[in-house]
Amino acid sequence: VSLVLLGPPGAGKGTQARKLETAFGLVQLSTGDLLRAAVAAGTDAGRAAQEVMARGDLVSDDIVIAILRDRLAQDDCAKGVIFDGFPRTRVQAAALDELMAETGNEITAAINLQVDDAAMVQRISGRYTCGACGEGYHDRFKVPAAKGVCDNCGGTEFKRRADDNAATVAQRLRAYHADTAPLIEHYGAQSVLRSVDAMQSIDKVEADLNAIVNAAL
Ligand code: AP5
Ligand code: ZN
Repeated sequence: VSLVLLGPPGAGKGTQARKLETAFGLVQLSTGDLLRAAVAAGTDAGRAAQEVMARGDLVSDDIVIAILRDRLAQDDCAKGVIFDGFPRTRVQAAALDELMAETGNEITAAINLQVDDAAMVQRISGRYTCGACGEGYHDRFKVPAAKGVCDNCGGTEFKRRADDNAATVAQRLRAYHADTAPLIEHYGAQSVLRSVDAMQSIDKVEADLNAIVNAAL
């Protein structure tokens, strides 16, 4: 199984990818997470990506495709993968099609999470994650059951992303409309495109996604 989650920043790609991982035994491949890890590790790619990400622009296709290809070659990905935040440009989509063909795989479904621009700004500005396990939370929409304690691992350290500020969010949204939205057409032409109303609650979106994946299996 190879799923692509399409959608603007804040649509819920990361939130839902983690649920799909558990429900279907898949591996989440988030290029955003891979790039943040490269920045933290201070690799060449990370140094090149850091400023670009801080501006809310897209990191160059070469860097992103190389990082993704390396991760995809690791053994655990044989279980099946969820591409979260990749591809984001036509060049990346073409590279993914090639990678799939090389390894004899196919995209099972490319699922477009549809949200209003206004909701996305609200979601991103309230977002934080568990420092220990990465579970995502929101000041209003998803709070831990016990205040200050991660539901998933019991951790008590939380963090917010450096690029979740108003100026960067506006630029990330522009980049989405200019470069990523056209991929809806790319996957439509391959007849693997599905759409989910991601303005619904997290649980409803999850149920819709599970139904789509079950139907595609
Ligand atoms: P990346 O890390 O991919 O960020 P993004 O696309 O901006 O997406 P987000 O992680 O912000 O949002 P999400 O859709 O995962 O939403 P989430 O589930 O957290 O990319 C960051 C940067 O890296 C880019 O700007 C770029 O520079 C670079 N980059 C990454 N990939 C690249 C690529 N392929 N090519 C080039 N550059 C790349 O949800 C958001 C919040 O809302 C959470 O708090 C959550 O709890 C809440 N929430 C979720 N669903 C709902 C719901 N249904 N109702 C209410 N609240 C909800
Ligand atoms: Zn945790």
